[in-house]
Amino acid sequence: MKRVALLISGGGSNMVALVRSMTGDHPARAVLVASNDPKAGGLAKAAEMGIATAAVDHKPFGKDRGAFEAALLQHIEAAEPDILCLAGFMRVLTPGFVSRFEGRMLNIHPSLLPKYPGLHTHQRALDAGDTQAGCTVHEVTAVLDDGPLLGQARVPVLPGDTADTLAARVLVQEHRLYPAVLRRYAAGDRTPVVL
Ligand code: GAR
Repeated sequence: MKRVALLISGGGSNMVALVRSMTGDHPARAVLVASNDPKAGGLAKAAEMGIATAAVDHKPFGKDRGAFEAALLQHIEAAEPDILCLAGFMRVLTPGFVSRFEGRMLNIHPSLLPKYPGLHTHQRALDAGDTQAGCTVHEVTAVLDDGPLLGQARVPVLPGDTADTLAARVLVQEHRLYPAVLRRYAAGDRTPVVL
């Protein structure tokens, strides 16, 4: 059984979908949900589901990303995860942190990478006149929103879409895609999932 730690910054809807998926014959179980924001709504949801939680506020660390990560790492290492899932985790990680979890850290990003790494993905897709949008799960490397692709799901861009309506349509697919990828990945299969 693989042990999975999840990092969140907000509401944690992807985290909830992942935790709920890890039951029965699933090859992994959630062991920790950690956040850089003590007020992240997902922390209470994780606790309700019986998962251990931790919060390390990044703000007191200012620009010292290394010191923040060291504090976060203490909680993560204590949970002894095999796999780390970034699920709406909005802090950029240093190459040192990434290398520590190389080959066992996943991220979900709300665009069809390599399009639109970074922020405001849905507005950028609308501004570009794209007819399709979607989400990507990838292995995390030291380059932001880069790394081997593990799955993608597509949605149409509809007339009258705003960034919010498009984000909501993509999020539904995120909740299908990420659990599908994690199940495959935890079983040792890195073949991309296409939804
Ligand atoms: C999701 O849409 C996720 O793809 C995105 O943040 C949202 C988190 O929602 N992640 C990023 O933008 C990463 N750069 P959630 O907290 O409800 O899962």
